[in-house]
Amino acid sequence: MAIMKLVFLVLFFHHANAQTLSTNFHRYSCPNLEGIVSRTTSKFISTTPSLAPALLRLHFHDCFVRGCDGSVLLNSTAGNTAEKASFPNLSLRGFQVVEAAKAAVEKQCPWMVSCADILALVARDAVFQIKGPFWPVPLGRRDGIVSRANEALANLPPPNFNITQLITSFGAKGLSVKDLVVLSGGHTIGVSFCSSFATRIYNFTGRNDADPSMDPAYVAELRRMCPPSDATTTVAMDPGSAQDFDVDYYSMVRQRRGLFQTDAALLDHSATNSYVQQHSTPLGSKSFFDDFAASMVKMGRIGVLTGRAGQIRKICSVVN
Ligand code: HEM
Repeated sequence: MAIMKLVFLVLFFHHANAQTLSTNFHRYSCPNLEGIVSRTTSKFISTTPSLAPALLRLHFHDCFVRGCDGSVLLNSTAGNTAEKASFPNLSLRGFQVVEAAKAAVEKQCPWMVSCADILALVARDAVFQIKGPFWPVPLGRRDGIVSRANEALANLPPPNFNITQLITSFGAKGLSVKDLVVLSGGHTIGVSFCSSFATRIYNFTGRNDADPSMDPAYVAELRRMCPPSDATTTVAMDPGSAQDFDVDYYSMVRQRRGLFQTDAALLDHSATNSYVQQHSTPLGSKSFFDDFAASMVKMGRIGVLTGRAGQIRKICSVVN
């Protein structure tokens, strides 16, 4: 009988720990949470709209490395090089927005809300504030205490992945081929350093050539903006509406004007290709917004720590 009880308790707590997140999680522990976070986020974005894409990317880079546990927010320490310091994360921006939202939340609800939850809310608010979709964010994540640069390198897909590698990378996080094509639509906003696609326009096969899958007129435009070996210039990923969350991304990809090989690669698989074709006009906007909201919720659940795992950090850049 005692053994049965033990088995029951183990199963119960295992289940409680693996519990799914809930939009009501902070209903009593921090009733004004969402208002505090959205006010803080909008204060920053109204003066610096270019922070909105940065905040979306921050959430993606958090979730793909050790799950959405705020590990991307941690600073390196004497004995540890954190995710932040790894190559793909060097261009991340917007940490100050998360810290400010966290500080404002701590004032009203000390020790209650994780940095991981705050980042998920900030990313949603950022997208919504630049005319993108709104989605209810399931909450209850806890913060991790480990952040390693080499794990960021191993888990974040680089911009030269092909479609098979992308599907594997997203699949490893429990995301589908549809999630891949939908979330890639995040590139409808924001900027990229020239160095992130320089090989594609200057030295694709080592013979001073460009990727033949890119529209030659676009290659020429990009070459004008990005001299070889340029390390400081950034270009809009969706020229013309880089600060508006819209469905333009898919028409760019369709016109062979996706900036990275990973954007172009969406044409190389039947399911992603047909999504691109179907969303290449403004008419595709509604279904893209619904899909994006659903895939963001799914991404936000990757590898989350719940129950008694991890901690609620006081300051997002350091463990308690
Ligand atoms: C599919 C695999 C992906 C690859 C290979 C990729 C790669 C990149 C690269 C190389 C940059 C430019 C970095 C720089 O030079 O500063 C970038 C920017 C960006 N990415 Fe992705 N990305 C991917 C997926 C995603 C996803 C899933 C999202 C969000 C849902 C996202 C959102 C963004 C945003 C918003 C920016 C602009 C950031 C800014 O303006 O600061 N990306 N991405």
